[in-house]
Amino acid sequence: MKVSTYKTIFFAIAFILLANNGVFAFRISTESNSTTSPSNETTPIHKMHREAILDGGCDFDVDFCNWTNETSGDDFDWIRLKSRTPSSNTGPRKDRSGEGFYIYAEASWPRKAGETARLLGGPFSGIMCMRFFYHMYGRHIADLQIYLKEDGMENFVWGRYKNQGNTWRYSNVTVFGNNYTIIFAARVGKSYQGDIALDEITFVNGTCDGKELNYLPRNLTVHSDMKRGETGTCDFDGGFCEWINLPLGDEFDWTLNSGATGTVDTGPEKDHTGYDGAYIFIEGSAPQRYGDRALLMGPRICGRMCLQFFYSMYGDRMGKLSVYKREGVRSDDLLWTMSGHQGPDWHEALVDIGGACYQIIIEGVVGPSYLSDLAVDDIFFSKGTCCQLKQDSFDAGLIGNCTFDEGLCKWINDPNDDFDWQLIEGGTPSEETGPTAGYEGEGQYLYVESSEPRRFADRAILTSGLLKGLQCMRFRYYMFGQDMGSLSVYRVGDGIMRGRLWRRYGNQGDKWHEARITLPCNSTSYMIQIEAVIGVWRSDIAIDKIEFTKGACPPFQRAITAATTTTTSATTPTLPAHLLVENDCSFKGHFCSWINDNNDDFDWLINSGDTMTQNTGPTSDADGDGWYIYLEASLQKSGEKAKLLSGYMTGTQCVQFKYHMLGSGIGTLRVYQIKRKDSTPRVVWYRVGDQGEDWKNAQFNLFGRFYRVFIEGVRGSTFEGDIAVDSITFTPGRCVVRVSEEEIQADSHLALGVCSFDSGFCQWRNEGNEDQFDWSITEGETPSKGTGPQTGFGGSGKYAFIESSSPRRAGDKAMLTIYGSGEDRCLLFAYHMSGKDIDSLSVYKQELGKGILPALLWNSNGNQGDDWKKAKIGIKGGSQYKLIIEAVRGQNFRGDIAIDEVGFNKGFCGKQVRMVKAGNKSGNSK
Ligand SMILES: *[C@@H]1O[C@H](CO)[C@@H](O)[C@H](O)[C@H]1NC(C)=O
Ligand SMILES: *[C@@H]1O[C@H](CO)[C@@H](O)[C@H](O)[C@H]1NC(C)=O
Ligand SMILES: *[C@@H]1O[C@H](CO)[C@@H](O)[C@H](O)[C@H]1NC(C)=O
Ligand SMILES: *[C@@H]1O[C@H](CO)[C@@H](O)[C@H](O)[C@H]1NC(C)=O
Ligand SMILES: *[C@@H]1O[C@H](CO)[C@@H](O)[C@H](O)[C@H]1NC(C)=O
Ligand SMILES: *[C@@H]1O[C@H](CO)[C@@H](O)[C@H](O)[C@H]1NC(C)=O
Ligand SMILES: *[C@@H]1O[C@H](CO)[C@@H](O)[C@H](O)[C@H]1NC(C)=O
Repeated sequence: MKVSTYKTIFFAIAFILLANNGVFAFRISTESNSTTSPSNETTPIHKMHREAILDGGCDFDVDFCNWTNETSGDDFDWIRLKSRTPSSNTGPRKDRSGEGFYIYAEASWPRKAGETARLLGGPFSGIMCMRFFYHMYGRHIADLQIYLKEDGMENFVWGRYKNQGNTWRYSNVTVFGNNYTIIFAARVGKSYQGDIALDEITFVNGTCDGKELNYLPRNLTVHSDMKRGETGTCDFDGGFCEWINLPLGDEFDWTLNSGATGTVDTGPEKDHTGYDGAYIFIEGSAPQRYGDRALLMGPRICGRMCLQFFYSMYGDRMGKLSVYKREGVRSDDLLWTMSGHQGPDWHEALVDIGGACYQIIIEGVVGPSYLSDLAVDDIFFSKGTCCQLKQDSFDAGLIGNCTFDEGLCKWINDPNDDFDWQLIEGGTPSEETGPTAGYEGEGQYLYVESSEPRRFADRAILTSGLLKGLQCMRFRYYMFGQDMGSLSVYRVGDGIMRGRLWRRYGNQGDKWHEARITLPCNSTSYMIQIEAVIGVWRSDIAIDKIEFTKGACPPFQRAITAATTTTTSATTPTLPAHLLVENDCSFKGHFCSWINDNNDDFDWLINSGDTMTQNTGPTSDADGDGWYIYLEASLQKSGEKAKLLSGYMTGTQCVQFKYHMLGSGIGTLRVYQIKRKDSTPRVVWYRVGDQGEDWKNAQFNLFGRFYRVFIEGVRGSTFEGDIAVDSITFTPGRCVVRVSEEEIQADSHLALGVCSFDSGFCQWRNEGNEDQFDWSITEGETPSKGTGPQTGFGGSGKYAFIESSSPRRAGDKAMLTIYGSGEDRCLLFAYHMSGKDIDSLSVYKQELGKGILPALLWNSNGNQGDDWKKAKIGIKGGSQYKLIIEAVRGQNFRGDIAIDEVGFNKGFCGKQVRMVKAGNKSGNSK
């Protein structure tokens, strides 16, 4: 009931996955206060429950008891068995007792890697220790995980992955809650050697380690004050809250402190609020050594959150601070990182986090000397995005709005420029330049006077107060005069370089214009600078009525509505020029003739530089003018759509544009053609999912008498789903498809395709568009340990390989291609696929000019051992085709794949010729 009671009651469960050796540890922490001495109550509590076995367990000797296979949502079922599993070198021989049955998940065909069998138990209520035996033996064991499901939400509580040896192992885990289900989820690895078995589940009263677990049933939860942060919020004044120092996987611990740290010239002076409160820090002095890590893990959190915290990184030899997200047994995702000396102040960090349920890990790494005390304070979690947090807590209008009728408001003239902006009412003193009155004909406005003593290129800068969040800035400007200079708007962020957001150059005519600038969220706080640079003589520049509103700017409304349905006449209608599509749009600060549709879920934004989320979106535009349009996934829900409508066009058009789709949660980008107002739009082009880190080219033809198109982006599964588009061009007529020289001369290539890679790739080419990276050539060992060959095939010489170390990611492809035609051939090469994380090597053949996909001819998957193997692949002759050797990068860096001594022999490796009937062979001699 009482809020104060609630504050002191909580629980924290932590699991640790040691990524390098696959050991998990599980621990319950009930201490709210890291300074409390170790509890002496362990013994009494332990005695109290006297090992009473509760209902709900099962030894599977007779049946599944009350446990069931999940009926939907998983891929296969648990099976009960008495003897050994059908596959060799995996699974148990007998049950735990040696006499009864056990249950297991069979990994053999038709199972595929990643498929899951889920076993459900419950519902249960209360706090229990679940004990069980598991058997995880086999070369390709994936993992076994346990989840607690309560109120529809699943929380990960226990996991093991990879081979645990040919034996039954005991484990236990505390389960708790009100009406919860327990889920055992077994996942299949890369081969049949991945059987996972389970036996003798029992439940006893109380927690597994005997410690008290202060569990607060959900329905008793007091609705917390809106201002309070979500779970995980901690000011460290009263200890570590739900945060714990991980006992394994790092070298030392975070410590609580108040006031200065023990070392001079490093660490903060006081906690973040500047009072007597505490903060946490890592001590850079001995016994810590350069590179030592301290890991702090927070409680489980679900849903989209904004993490705000403050850090102090004061010290000449400062190390590194990173924030990771840990979800299930997958490896940690880096969300935020900062390294090096950041001055004596505390800095704010804001990190957007998405996902189902996860835990946050804060990692401090010691720098090269003791001058590296690094501190963290006031961790605050709030629901939603950081943009929302910044916007909700901040009214940019108070800082930035100004009509200049009563002065400069909160804007100031920069003291370091050449001259100042001035307030004025009515016309400016010079002829043929400047306005005759303020915006809307009245009041004061601000201007720069270009007459003497001003000289060409003098600058006047007006600076705003501190602003935050995604904002739309609007202002009016007047740039009339033959010798007009330029007007620019810059953003100056904390730690971010001054970046130009907007610019107008030259005479803009004798009237007031409106400028709209979307200020993205990608810095914690920022200032705006309006800079006027004067031209030669008649170049008075004026501004008026600055307004800020939350969120992105609405697009300018164009006068459309008229003439949309003149299609009744059969002849090609003539339209006013402004309704026709602009042939070329690079989104240089505006949308050209494109308009955001009103009947969709959200809007395309204009942007320059990065998008506000890491690991998704471009870092700059595609064509060098600085601007592109994009969909900001972190502000939207999965499946939401944004449409951008073109102007009208007629006849055959070749459409070309650039698109950028990078991120783990990329949705879909489609282009539709609409021929008549009420006809169904037709998809003419699309891409789904991650397309790699570069801008890609799209090109297709449109036909019709009179039509328009729209570009639709669909928000994908996570906030890492920003989709960007740039440089759209429409060229009358069909797209010109250039046939490459290589294709024309295809015949001669196979003879030259013989390649030992000792002096380059011969006639093989690294594919330019369809893959994510290139094959490299090396000699001797590859740079990574535990993967790749020691020498070229035959013990010497160079060879081609894929380097799977960072920045490569799982699934990245590298392709080598060559063109061929004519008679049957036999492709020969040596390959080397050794390493824990080898994915696959494949050979494809694509018939050219038929619009068909490449066909797989040969494929090898997984670790093939540390020696060179030989491949021999028959290639059927025919008209022109392309051969592709494709290597795919595995889950981690130990995935180097190499090839060497590629060559072609005549004939289908000695077989095909005999298989073809004589009568059919007429076409074979070219
Ligand atoms: C429990 O506390 C008493 C004194 O408070 C101490 O003598 C005893 O050693 C403690 N027992 C354990 C197991 O820590
Ligand atoms: C199975 O569940 C039923 C009710 O759901 C319960 O009455 C019974 O005791 C349970 N059996 C075991 C072995 O736990
Ligand atoms: C689970 O599925 C397996 C295979 O379909 C079946 O043999 C077994 O009886 C099922 N268990 C239960 C409790 O339904
Ligand atoms: C307990 O959970 C089950 C689903 O697991 C649900 O069907 C049932 O209604 C729940 N009972 C209560 C009392 O909430
Ligand atoms: C479990 O232990 C608690 C106290 O620790 C007790 O109140 C409860 O009755 C016990 N439940 C069973 C089923 O023994
Ligand atoms: C849980 O497992 C740990 C480690 O094997 C053991 O020390 C502890 O006694 C077990 N607890 C229960 C209640 O079985
Ligand atoms: C932490 O412990 C100290 C002394 O042991 C105590 O005064 C303080 O109230 C505790 N704080 C919390 C949040 O329990």
